[in-house]
Amino acid sequence: MYKIAVAGTGYVGLVAGVCFAEVGHQVTCVDIDEAKVNLMKSGVSPIYETSLEELMQKNYAAGRIDYTTDFKSAYKDADAIFIGVGTPEQPDGSANLSYIATVARQIAESVEKDCLVVVKSTVPVGTNDKVEQFIQDFLVNGVRVEVASNPEFLAQGSAVQDTLHAERIVIGTESKWAEDLLMKIYEPFHLPIVSVNRRSAEMIKYASNDFLALKISYMNDIANLCELVGADIQDVAKGMSYDERIGSKFLNAGIGYGGSCFPKDTKALEYIARQNGYELKTIKAAIDVNKEQKTMLYKKASKSLITFNLLKVAVLGLTFKPGTDDLREAASLENIPLLLEQGANIFAYDPVGAENFSKVHPEGKGGRGSITYVSNIEHALQDANVCFIFTEWGEVKAVTPENYKDLMRTPLVYDGRNLYRLEDMQNAGVEYHSIGRKSTVKEAKKESKNLELQNS
Ligand code: UDX
Repeated sequence: MYKIAVAGTGYVGLVAGVCFAEVGHQVTCVDIDEAKVNLMKSGVSPIYETSLEELMQKNYAAGRIDYTTDFKSAYKDADAIFIGVGTPEQPDGSANLSYIATVARQIAESVEKDCLVVVKSTVPVGTNDKVEQFIQDFLVNGVRVEVASNPEFLAQGSAVQDTLHAERIVIGTESKWAEDLLMKIYEPFHLPIVSVNRRSAEMIKYASNDFLALKISYMNDIANLCELVGADIQDVAKGMSYDERIGSKFLNAGIGYGGSCFPKDTKALEYIARQNGYELKTIKAAIDVNKEQKTMLYKKASKSLITFNLLKVAVLGLTFKPGTDDLREAASLENIPLLLEQGANIFAYDPVGAENFSKVHPEGKGGRGSITYVSNIEHALQDANVCFIFTEWGEVKAVTPENYKDLMRTPLVYDGRNLYRLEDMQNAGVEYHSIGRKSTVKEAKKESKNLELQNS
């Protein structure tokens, strides 16, 4: 059992802290936000994450985890300090490392015994060398402090599960002492450990995330071509998935990847390459395809409809994926302003993301239109002229083709997540447009649909 401090209580830091406590370590989570610390002490998670709150309460009651703003007391006698603070994207695509630098300085001024500093945040290759030097420069007491890299591969919505049952743990160290200590800290997880040097560990994180982003953009690119040549992306993906070299995961075409990692990490790696005089063409392409893809549904709808002005537009799903209240880089953030600008009266449903979204787009008038947040899907769909699906929440999947037909004024659905079988929508009489597949109406019928909408 080790004494562990964790700097930052966002997705990475808090989940890591709770999971370390769960396997028996003594954990103190540090955050600068006192209100957040008090919230966590009272057993409430500041983020929406499956089973996190339950484990926070269990381990707090068992005395294995605590939360504080007092970094000095948390760092001074820790065996290891994990850094999980943010590295937000800057306008040029580079990562902002100021939070890491602040924590590194605090560590240097606080530690009173030998300690391993472990960077979990995603940082440009070579950053950990700099963090180590930075700590040495400001170190107050003559103790041994080394820096290790330990990138995080958790996905939001399944963060606890991904951490406790990770497919691999990557550690990047520069000494036997650091490697042994990290191995022992991770021993109780009983998971495969890939031990490499620090720079390789830093690179593994970017290379993994960007590969997945590339895979999604590739499928979106192929999906757009499928539409033009009359193929079906879901059938194509199915056929591809049997090849183990390709794999069956992350082949879903849609409205582009969002979230806190893929958009940021693709741009960061592209920036790192540029800084090193190299053009990372594959990742540049992934970024370009994703940018286009986010508004693909809106563009499709704009081509087919004469106007959105005064139409009731149902929006199902606002978050970048289900299982989270996170809106970062969500397609809804790009599409809703476009719809509002065109005068749409939006009725938006999201089981957990509406509150966050209303902070960006307050309920009421917006652009030439308006936005209303509703707590049930039926209310959103009732008498709607058009429906956009942005997130594949279970609640959204549960809506049947007949529900669209029965509830909407004109059953016209633009689905960014390919949730329905074309035949089912066709049979129910719903005009259905999705990604990389045929639409359920012929061109000729669209004209009459426009007239119908105009008259409605
Ligand atoms: C991702 C990685 O999965 C995780 O390993 C890493 O540590 C952080 O980034 P996350 O951003 O939480 O996790 O979500 P993920 O489930 O990977 O989805 C990211 C985005 O890609 C979502 O917008 C999702 O809708 C989209 N996506 C995913 C697709 O469009 N198609 C797919 O096939 C898979």
